[in-house]
Amino acid sequence: MKKIISMVLILATACMLAACGKKEESTTLKMATNAEFPPYEYYEGDKVVGIDADIAEAVAKELGLKLEIEDMAFDSIIAAVTSGKSDIGLAGMTVTEDRKKNVDFTDTYATATQVIIVKKGSPVASPDDLKGKKIGVQLGTTGDIYAADIEGSQVERFNKGFEAVQSVLQDKIDAVIIDQLPAQEFVEANDDLMILDEAFTKEEYAIAVKKGNKELVEKINKALANLKESGELDKIVAKYIKADE
Ligand code: ARG
Repeated sequence: MKKIISMVLILATACMLAACGKKEESTTLKMATNAEFPPYEYYEGDKVVGIDADIAEAVAKELGLKLEIEDMAFDSIIAAVTSGKSDIGLAGMTVTEDRKKNVDFTDTYATATQVIIVKKGSPVASPDDLKGKKIGVQLGTTGDIYAADIEGSQVERFNKGFEAVQSVLQDKIDAVIIDQLPAQEFVEANDDLMILDEAFTKEEYAIAVKKGNKELVEKINKALANLKESGELDKIVAKYIKADE
């Protein structure tokens, strides 16, 4: 009996050693995000929750992996993915030609618009009125790019979208350009703010993956397709968007 046990132990140890020597077969899906973006990703206590967090959880489950969320500055996410520090970038990230030079994107999972937040009674009533104005954005976002393109604009870049919104409230800047759903969350929490009717652009969100990792893109696309088909994706979105919006 003793002999058998020690044989088993030896075998088990040998297997472990072999596994260690092999190129590490990862069992986690590391997600880089910036949890300053409700309802897509934000903190509830010390946990990152939101539409993206739930999508990642569901995708990881389909892939048989354990999800690990890494919160970082928005403009660090692409670098985290290209360096391999993170497996995916999932952060309400808009697919752009520029980003496609550095990462590959999965199929899209949401459409979004960029909107303008102003203080009620502001002379800024349409995108045209932003010329020559002080515009707040979250650093490195598409809102940042749009704002910089506006004639004569002065762009104030914040680490968090919320800080840009605070700045409008304090009359330090004239407007904020940010994605619609976070805008609604920020404005809802403050009576003095409003979102202009006229939106900026339509965009699409997708998951960023290291360039050339076709296998992961395909696996995630399959998982996303399943989530869409089963109605799970709609359920996740509905969970985080209040019915009165
Ligand atoms: N959709 C915008 C972009 O891709 C903003 C995304 C900001 N996301 C975040 N988690 N802070 O640039």
